[in-house]
Amino acid sequence: MKKTWWKESVVYQIYPRSFNDSNGDGIGDIPGIIEKLDYLKELGIDVIWLSPVYQSPNDDNGYDISDYQAIMDDFGTMSDWENLLDEIHKREMKLIMDLVVNHSSDEHAWFAESRKSKDNPYRDYYIWRPGHDGEAPNNWAATFGGSAWDYDEASGEYYLHLFSKKQPDLNWENPKLRNEVYDMMKWWLDKGIDGFRMDVINFISKAEGLPDGPNPHNKKYGDGSQYFMNGPRIHEFLHEMNKEVISNYDVMTVGEMPGVNVEQAIEYTDASRDELQMVFQFEHMDLDSGPEGKWDLKPLDLRDLKESISRWQTGLHGTGWNSLYMNNHDQPRMVSRFGNDKEYRVTSAKMLATFLHMLQGTPYIYQGEEIGMTNIRFDSIKDYKDIETLNYYRDALNEGKSEEDIMQSIYTKGRDNARTPMQWNDEVNAGFTSGTPWIAVNENYKEINASKAVHDPDSIFHYYKKLISLRKQYEIIQYGDYELLLPDHTEIYAYTRSYEGKKLLVLTNFSDQEQVFTKPGELQFDADQVLVSNGVVASLETDEVVLRPYEAVVYLGE
Ligand code: NOJ
Repeated sequence: MKKTWWKESVVYQIYPRSFNDSNGDGIGDIPGIIEKLDYLKELGIDVIWLSPVYQSPNDDNGYDISDYQAIMDDFGTMSDWENLLDEIHKREMKLIMDLVVNHSSDEHAWFAESRKSKDNPYRDYYIWRPGHDGEAPNNWAATFGGSAWDYDEASGEYYLHLFSKKQPDLNWENPKLRNEVYDMMKWWLDKGIDGFRMDVINFISKAEGLPDGPNPHNKKYGDGSQYFMNGPRIHEFLHEMNKEVISNYDVMTVGEMPGVNVEQAIEYTDASRDELQMVFQFEHMDLDSGPEGKWDLKPLDLRDLKESISRWQTGLHGTGWNSLYMNNHDQPRMVSRFGNDKEYRVTSAKMLATFLHMLQGTPYIYQGEEIGMTNIRFDSIKDYKDIETLNYYRDALNEGKSEEDIMQSIYTKGRDNARTPMQWNDEVNAGFTSGTPWIAVNENYKEINASKAVHDPDSIFHYYKKLISLRKQYEIIQYGDYELLLPDHTEIYAYTRSYEGKKLLVLTNFSDQEQVFTKPGELQFDADQVLVSNGVVASLETDEVVLRPYEAVVYLGE
């Protein structure tokens, strides 16, 4: 296996709107990020992934970009951004930027031109089609509700938008568009950035003819995903991007890829194919959803998580590379989702971190995860800001769902769970802003905040710091082979890692009950081989280890 810096790095994701506000307008900004770089350095972070800071009308909080080469006024200026890059590099950290090129904003100059007329030179930068008998060109649903097509009166055609109608899809079939994207990428790379996280990058190639998708639940719109996820020319486009741009720099790339499976991920990340280095896959994010998708709540069966994670661990070993995450700006807080955010918040947050950080792959920490921030429950839908959540609320009410069920889904899965302001201290607005925050702060900030965590040696923060330093110290954590133990146990997730004659044993209890781990005969660990644990050190000197609620213990031996 080839060793590289990005395989040995830990990444921290910043969602700038909610990170730190330096000028009191209630919105996080770039100077605010600079103020917190020492905090990230102390945690041990190598790479920062910055969610979009480009100019945007904010229909989808910056994932709708109207100018790829300008900074959003809310966040500061280009010179603030240059300063940020300098300050990150000064601290020997790296910066990767979000690349959102499946779609732009409808307020991008390209789209303004494109919609002017059918013969405008920019028409083919987007995907325009005539309707069928007064209806949209096909039955595809948009991710944020409604049809994936919007009718444009002036030119008498529809344009495709897989997300909101203010996010028209770019036409990657057009080589001119592709070259514009590559030039823009080079422009950022030449400024010195260290790579890209690529938004829904496996959506950029659409199947010819854009056929109707299945509609098994007889909804208003069908599911076109088989015609736009991992489409026919996707590998060709990514290879071309690699050849034209990426291969000329020593940078890191991670492609966000809903619907990708292990075999496809190998194709995307196999170094010999020159496409991407890592993908964000979603299988483990979908295990607690029913057949109707993310809002259709279903309890997680730990055996499903083991089966999925293990398949990815062994599948990509030696060929591709995993990215490890349990939350981000689109997902609920991991301690609320997979742990227990009440009585066992601290213990379960540490357990989940142990589970994730001992796996093979590059770990991603989402802002606030390192202090165990939790989901939010606003009483009124009026306090929610996320376009996906608000559209779901409206559409589900129209479909006749009860308000109670809808709110339950939003409490459990809504994206605003991750987007409440970062909790820095126990002062007003958790120290996030001196003004009125754009979204309300979680009321638990007096208890859960970074200042408290930094000053408490037993905090989740210090536990993460330890996990990160262990990864740097032990190659077995970075590169060792993975093997699952106890596949059928419903509460304990146990696995080993092996490397150059050494063995790591990772035991994690995902439940609020005591669990007994029965030691397989060949595992000869005892108490002085504990590398890290969130509890009082358990012992493997007998055949049985008792794991208390949400306990985690890692042993290193031969
Ligand atoms: C994935 C991003 O992570 C999400 O926040 C965004 O809404 C969609 N892609 C559309 O850009």
